[in-house]
Amino acid sequence: MSISHIHTAYFSPTGTTRTICTTLAQEMSRILNIPWKLRSFTLPAERKEPLCFSGSDLVILGVPVYAGRVPNVLLKFLNGIAGNGAMGIPIVVYGNRNYDDALIELRDLMESAMIHTIGGGAFIGEHSFSRTLGGGRPDAQDLNVVRSFAGTAASAIENNRFRTPAAVKGNIPYRPYMVPQTKDGGHQKISRVFPKVSDACTNCGICAAVCPMGAIAPDYHSYTSFCIKCCACVKACPTGARYYDDETYLFHKRQLEEHFSRRAEPETFI
Ligand SMILES: Cc1cc2nc3c(=O)[nH]c(=O)nc-3n(C[C@H](O)[C@H](O)[C@H](O)COP(=O)(O)O)c2cc1C
Repeated sequence: MSISHIHTAYFSPTGTTRTICTTLAQEMSRILNIPWKLRSFTLPAERKEPLCFSGSDLVILGVPVYAGRVPNVLLKFLNGIAGNGAMGIPIVVYGNRNYDDALIELRDLMESAMIHTIGGGAFIGEHSFSRTLGGGRPDAQDLNVVRSFAGTAASAIENNRFRTPAAVKGNIPYRPYMVPQTKDGGHQKISRVFPKVSDACTNCGICAAVCPMGAIAPDYHSYTSFCIKCCACVKACPTGARYYDDETYLFHKRQLEEHFSRRAEPETFI
C-alpha cells in the first residue's frame, strides 16, 4: 500500500492528546518522507465539517479516554467520518487510571468508517481533573515511546507487515462507562456539575474560547449547554478563577489521586 499523506486528527481539550498525535505524525512523516497535516476537532466549529480521507492517506486519530471509553459526545462526529479505504492508527490518551475499552472502541469506529487500522496506542496524559495524577505527562520518556512506535509502524507499512483490523487490547462487548463512586459506596453521575467562577475572573474570555462544548455564556459566569468536565477552562484560566466545588466530583478526584498514583506506562500494538 502506498501512502501519500499523513493526517492527524484529534480531540484534545487540555492538549495532551494533541501532543501525542503531533509527535507520532511528525516522526512518521520524517521516517516515511511524506507530508503530514493536523486537524483538530476539539471545538464546536471544528466539528461542523466531517472528516474525509482517501485511500492513499494514513490517519492518526486521537481522543482522550472518558469513563473508560471514547468520549460519548464525539460519537456522532466520529460516526460521520468518511475513511474511503485509508490506513489508520487509533490513539487514546488517559489520565493514569486505565483506558479500559476506549482503544478497541476507537479502532472499531475507524473500521466502521472504512479506515483500515494497522496498529494502535494508549498513552498517558495529565488527568483532566488533577495537576498531580499523571502530572506533567506526556513527559520525555513517553515521547520516546511515541517515536519508537512511529518507527515500528512506519516499518510495518513499508514492508506490508501488519494485520488489519489491528489487534489492540480491550473487551467486546465493551464495558459500561465508568461511573464515579460516592462516599457511601453508591454511584452518582456528575453530568450536572459545572465549574464555579471566583472574583479573580477578569472576563478575558479564554474559558469560552477553549470550551469544546461551546457551553460558556458570553457573561463567562453562566452556561448555555452541559459541561463534560474536560477542565479546558479550569486549566486555561490565567487567573485560576474557575474551579469545581461539587462534593461528589471532588471526592472522585481525590479517590483517583489516591488509588492511581503509580506510574502507568504506554502500550502500543502493531
Ligand atoms: C469526563 C472525563 C472522564 C475521564 N475518564 C478517564 C478514565 O476513565 N481513565 C483515565 O485514566 N483518565 C480519564 N480521564 C482523563 C483524561 O483521559 C486524560 O486527562 C487525558 O489526558 C485528557 O486529554 P486532553 O489533554 O487531550 O484533553 C477522564 C477525563 C474526563 C474529563
